[in-house]
Amino acid sequence: MKPVKKAVFPVAGMGTRFLPATKASPKEMLPIVDKPLIQFAVEEAVAAGCTEVVFVTGRNKRSIEDHFDKAYELESELAFRNKDKLLAHVQDILPKNVTCLYIRQPEALGLGHAVLCAKAAVGDEPFAVILADDLIDAPQGALSQMMEVYRTTGSSVLGVEEVDPAETGSYGIVEISDLDGRQKIDSIVEKPHPDVAPSNLAVVGRYLLTPRIFEFLATIQRGAGGEIQLTDAIARLLKYETVFAYPFAGKRYDCGSKIGYLQATVDFGLKHPETEAAFRQYLHEVAAQLSKK
Ligand code: UTP
Repeated sequence: MKPVKKAVFPVAGMGTRFLPATKASPKEMLPIVDKPLIQFAVEEAVAAGCTEVVFVTGRNKRSIEDHFDKAYELESELAFRNKDKLLAHVQDILPKNVTCLYIRQPEALGLGHAVLCAKAAVGDEPFAVILADDLIDAPQGALSQMMEVYRTTGSSVLGVEEVDPAETGSYGIVEISDLDGRQKIDSIVEKPHPDVAPSNLAVVGRYLLTPRIFEFLATIQRGAGGEIQLTDAIARLLKYETVFAYPFAGKRYDCGSKIGYLQATVDFGLKHPETEAAFRQYLHEVAAQLSKK
């Protein structure tokens, strides 16, 4: 069984829910306190053992490339001013053994198409896909938890969580059965209406996939929303290989939505060493004002 060393980050979406912030910069560069979403995601992949990160980028790729690149001027300026802590922050964004690759998705044809664009970079190996706008706060990263299932089974694994049954129309939804104490996926459907959804178990932005997925990504037609859907390719994969659902331990923030993004900002602001005390105080003041209204 080949180890998972490559992680694909589709970052070519339009990010329409965050316009105008995403007009000239990808939503994955939105910061939670002081760290962009994409950096959280890359750190999670590296912690899970990945050493090659593949970004599938769109029109506004510059800022992501620059973020993971060396910044000579900034670094020498920080060194000159003896800002050692900040310098370390800037230099330690990526461990030395991790390499980055950038692939362009010419048109935003959907998540499945974005993953297919990474085929040449991934080759015949299992790989991870992380959607950085699903920020997962987990003591042991969500991807690391899923990696354990891959190591013991050699099968694809999808990160899942229960969602409000009224919200199935926003997710890929799975139907599962027990296989030796694990959750085997029997069917998967993209954005089903709550009336027809097979469950309320939703796939969130973490996938470990065997390379066979590319076979199906190359042949599927446009699905929900007129997009080439990763979910539809996984539905085909299910017919040939076992795919597991894994309900990871941790809290997920849907940072592709304004409310999820604000929730993450509050929770992380309350934990950040530079903001926790003052921010807690401020939130108490806000709560007192709100209780008067
Ligand atoms: P979303 O469904 O969140 O779409 O994509 P979006 O375009 O980014 O955002 P909204 O809905 O317009 O606000 C899920 C993930 O898939 C990537 C996105 O960058 C995001 O990480 N994606 C989506 C692509 O890379 N390419 C696509 O064609 C579509």
